[in-house]
Amino acid sequence: MRTMRGRGLLIAFEGVDGTGKTTQLARLADFLKGMGCEVVATREPTDGEYGRRIRALYLDRGRCTPEEELELFIRDRRQHVRDCIEPALAAGRIVLTDRYYFSTAAYQGAAGCDPDQVFAANSFAPEPDLVLLLTMEPKQSLARIRELRGEQLNDFEQLDQLRRVARLFASFSREYIRRIDASAPLDAVQAEIRQAVLELMDRKGYRCGT
Ligand code: TYD
Repeated sequence: MRTMRGRGLLIAFEGVDGTGKTTQLARLADFLKGMGCEVVATREPTDGEYGRRIRALYLDRGRCTPEEELELFIRDRRQHVRDCIEPALAAGRIVLTDRYYFSTAAYQGAAGCDPDQVFAANSFAPEPDLVLLLTMEPKQSLARIRELRGEQLNDFEQLDQLRRVARLFASFSREYIRRIDASAPLDAVQAEIRQAVLELMDRKGYRCGT
């Protein structure tokens, strides 16, 4: 993965569906903005051309093979990196992304692609400074989706598949991956997240509001 970049920080939220990534990311963004940091909160799949095509697939997943699906996620990420992530990092901002290439390795890996090949296909994407990997039993995360959001499961969210995804997430090892138990209360999870981010800022000598 590429390591060359400006003075910003790249922080990715990862984990199976229903772990609370989106809520925790929004709260972290508010906290950092309150400290005077310039924050870019973003997500994958994006709202761009390929992200929209991916979302359309939720409705009818049988329409493409795992390889075609992988290709769409990679194209979406190329655009995301070029148009959003790289410029924000070059401008010294803190980028918070709701999912990144670990999701591709885990989800498309669970769908039959080789996770190592998926990582290799993402070598264009800057390596994150921190991955906040929210962990939870897939059964519990699916129950959360049903109860809290009242949502029907999309095809990416079936239990068996999600168990494979969780196993792959559990198998990834990088020094910048921080695993956080997302079954803890929201405030406790947020406190752990903030601590990890403040430690990172300290370690990198990153200062906000200057
Ligand atoms: P999700 O974060 O749940 O988006 P939203 O809630 O905004 O619709 O992501 C949608 C699904 O896409 C999720 O089930 C995981 C899947 N996904 C992949 O399979 N590969 C990827 O590379 C990414 C980024 C997501």
